Amino acid sequence: MELPPRPKLFDFHGVSMTNYFTDNWENVQNFKARPDDILIATYPKAGTTWVSYILDMLCFGHSERQNLVPVYERVPFLEMHIPSFPSGVAELNKMSTSPRLIKTHLPVQFIPKSFWEQNCKIVYVARNAKDNAVSYFHFDRMNMAQPEPGDWNSFLQRFMEGKMVFGSWYDHVTGWWEKKQSHSKLLYLFFEDMVEDTGRELDRLCSFLGVSPSAEEKENVRERAQFDNMKKNNMTNYSTDTVMDFKISPFMRKGKVGDWKNHFTVHQNEQFDEHLQKSMTETDLKFRTTI
Ligand code: A3P
Repeated sequence: MELPPRPKLFDFHGVSMTNYFTDNWENVQNFKARPDDILIATYPKAGTTWVSYILDMLCFGHSERQNLVPVYERVPFLEMHIPSFPSGVAELNKMSTSPRLIKTHLPVQFIPKSFWEQNCKIVYVARNAKDNAVSYFHFDRMNMAQPEPGDWNSFLQRFMEGKMVFGSWYDHVTGWWEKKQSHSKLLYLFFEDMVEDTGRELDRLCSFLGVSPSAEEKENVRERAQFDNMKKNNMTNYSTDTVMDFKISPFMRKGKVGDWKNHFTVHQNEQFDEHLQKSMTETDLKFRTTI
């Protein structure tokens, strides 16, 4: 399939976006959430696919569905509207599973109001800014539906300025963190905690969802969701996605905490730390950049 040229970033109500995530805006905003829908919200590259796969297994067990349908179809991407692909809203509207698992990268202020009205469960995953930026850089290199990343240094400057698709990392993670105060059905997870002890975070997810798998089932979920297993699994490694060029970089790249050390120069790290500190003064949200 011939892909259109890479999209351009533009300002959309104060957030940098591309048309692939704004073209269907009215339908996204009018989306009718159901009370049992589960929303998986993240800034891009924070571990969305990992948590989506885990939630899919916890909600539906290990079914045929997981062997036949890629995770990005099992968990539709609400705001996505790329030519030649079905839109996220269209996929969700014809979905009959209960619950529906729904992926979004929208900052909290853009979430369709029906999710709040229906008091849906929401799982948010956040990842430290340095690893998040590195992962996003490699993703933009290989994903032809994303803007050109340019070189690492210019990418990092733009990351600090919030000129990324879905806007500023800082605003995203803090906006959702604040929302936790008023929306009790929001579980805020950290990528670093999941790497450190997947079993513990799995337990948190189970109690949040109100499911009680046996110890054996839980161990199977943990095993299948390990990085190496997801990387081998064609239903979770995005090898079936035609907008990604795996010759440039794999989707399941490293899955580590601290890979930023292989990318940041000493100068970039100092500049980034200074910027991070200034941007995060108003919040008690804290991240770990090593574990
Ligand atoms: P890296 O690029 O650092 O490897 P998203 O799904 O939000 O796009 O996030 C992708 C990132 O999550 C990638 O990070 C990917 O490798 C990592 N990831 C996905 N599954 C993982 C797993 N099972 N364990 C650890 N990291 C995982």
